[in-house]
Amino acid sequence: MQHRVVEGDTEFSRAGADFIVEAVQHKPDAVAVFATGNSPVGVYRELVERYRRGEWDPSRLRVFQLDGYLGVGPDDSRSLYRWLDEAFLQPLEIAPAQVVRLPGDAADPEAVCRAYDQALQAAGGFDLAVLGLGPNGHIGFNEPPSLPDAPTRPVELTEASIASNAGYWGGSDKVPRMALTAGMAALLGARATLLLVTGGHKREILRRAVGGPVTPDVPASFLQTIGGVTVLADRDAWPDEP
Ligand code: F6R
Repeated sequence: MQHRVVEGDTEFSRAGADFIVEAVQHKPDAVAVFATGNSPVGVYRELVERYRRGEWDPSRLRVFQLDGYLGVGPDDSRSLYRWLDEAFLQPLEIAPAQVVRLPGDAADPEAVCRAYDQALQAAGGFDLAVLGLGPNGHIGFNEPPSLPDAPTRPVELTEASIASNAGYWGGSDKVPRMALTAGMAALLGARATLLLVTGGHKREILRRAVGGPVTPDVPASFLQTIGGVTVLADRDAWPDEP
């Protein structure tokens, strides 16, 4: 596991964008998954600016949706697909045909999860996973406890995840209780992973993820068991003694 600790938002965004652009330059038709949420916002903004300046080419990327709330359609302003579409896919002109979705409003959620894993396998697995770290150690919505071979599946959200997403929904009571997530097996199969972590509130869980025991209780700790992982953290998030 490699790590890079940077000072401030600008450096964080640049370092994250450098990593992603380099990965895509190395493999223009990379199969990739991109987290939503606060952590990657600046990185995606930087990617969009670089794209507008003609500095990289995402036109052949194949994107898989990382996670989504169950029962929430893509047009709902709170859907994670819509978030990704507005912050990433549309500004980078990535066409819907390049995206494999995890439709939260599907009639048969188990079936779409199976189809997702089959599509990922057919595509050769992830070349690149850009992930955030949940306050409870989740990656995607693989809530604790999650085993490393967990498939893409419907999951029940924990109170910690509900609380951390309450702001988007106007209160904890409005956050959906269930979600679909790319599985642990899919994410841990990625050939390159960028884990984006910012803020002092993530410091303790980041310490457990990178330096604590590998355990289903901290799903991100399984990143210690695979190669190709880079943790990009700001100074506040990086623990003094990981
Ligand atoms: C989002 C996702 C989550 C977040 C994590 C951190 O698609 O899968 O795992 O990456 O909860 O969220 P932020 O960055 O908002 O702190």
